[in-house]
Amino acid sequence: MTSTTPHPVPTRTLGATGPQVAALGLGCMGMSALYGDADRAESIATIHAALDAGITLLDTGDFYGMGHNELLINEALRTAPDALREKALTSVKFGALRDPDGGWSGYDGRPAAVKNFAAYSLQRLGTDHIDVYRIARVDPGVPVEETVGAIAELVQAGHVRHIGMSEVGAETLRRAASVAPISDLQIEYSLISRGIEDEILPTARELGIGITAYGVLSRGLISGHFSGDRKLAANDFRGMSPRFQGENLRHNLDLVEQLRKIAEQKGASVAQIAIAWVLAQGEDVVPLVGARRRDRLTEALGALGVSLDAADLAAIERAVPADAAAGARYPEAQMAHLDSEKH
Ligand SMILES: NC(=O)c1ccc[n+]([C@@H]2O[C@H](COP(=O)([O-])OP(=O)(O)OC[C@H]3O[C@@H](n4cnc5c(N)ncnc54)[C@H](OP(=O)(O)O)[C@@H]3O)[C@@H](O)[C@H]2O)c1
Repeated sequence: MTSTTPHPVPTRTLGATGPQVAALGLGCMGMSALYGDADRAESIATIHAALDAGITLLDTGDFYGMGHNELLINEALRTAPDALREKALTSVKFGALRDPDGGWSGYDGRPAAVKNFAAYSLQRLGTDHIDVYRIARVDPGVPVEETVGAIAELVQAGHVRHIGMSEVGAETLRRAASVAPISDLQIEYSLISRGIEDEILPTARELGIGITAYGVLSRGLISGHFSGDRKLAANDFRGMSPRFQGENLRHNLDLVEQLRKIAEQKGASVAQIAIAWVLAQGEDVVPLVGARRRDRLTEALGALGVSLDAADLAAIERAVPADAAAGARYPEAQMAHLDSEKH
């Protein structure tokens, strides 16, 4: 049995200076890119259902399908009832450079580029402001202070409300926060990606910066729905992710089966336990769920009805110990862009 009863969505505040948001955010990436093809009508219906259920934060990137994801959100907001549209908050990442074949060619954090990216995003989203704006990966050729300074100027001008960061380590977070208030750090955090706990999470807490956690289901790997015989499309990130390959995948799916035993005892699904575990890590953590269908969204929302006490959390962490996953969370070339992984 899984938890499917609608639960009121509580709110959390992103950092000391950020907006109040529903405790679960909707990550829209998979509706346009990286996990194979998605159904447009179902994607829009999923965004509407999320807003209707009380979710407020919609996360996107201008490079998710090269503008496709922002245009999709635009359409979903245009066709949503006024009361729902008014509650929606946009969190937009920029900076990744693409090529016409879908390749990735680095990051651009120069101030003029930041403003150029923002101008296009505002147009595609059809809004006059972006609620949280962040560079997806720091540009190694531009001091982070300059990139953040450019977003701060966009805040001054009213085009952006809050400044976020993405996948940066503690030192870069401090440098960014010395320029302007940072609402939240968006970073991978799940039962099998716990790298932030040593240094990054304590630093964010010290600086009053919230966490928007992505990959809480490790891109579906620990959702309880993934299987070893699933055929992935050529453009699916998981086809290249070390955690989804061969022996690593078999090992990781064994961990999921350990988690399933706990889920069954709690009357919840595996995905709900994985999301509830992230929710339980602190009031300053907001999981972004990557649902792209209404049934997945309903399941994710059910996590809000799963309460985990200290004994439950300990049992979960025994089933899936902190370093239990096999394989890195990104392919090697992409790991090199992660400031958060530089030690
Ligand atoms: N800042 C960054 O560097 C960064 C990086 C990646 C993502 N993000 C953001 O974070 C968001 C979430 O990341 P993610 O999509 O990788 O996270 P995720 O929630 O770990 O994985 C989403 C995938 O899990 C599967 N899934 C199975 N059951 C689900 C359920 N009940 N609810 C939701 N998904 C379920 C779905 O795959 P199937 O549909 O194939 O079953 C879905 O595509 C993204 O949409 C994006 O906005 C940020």
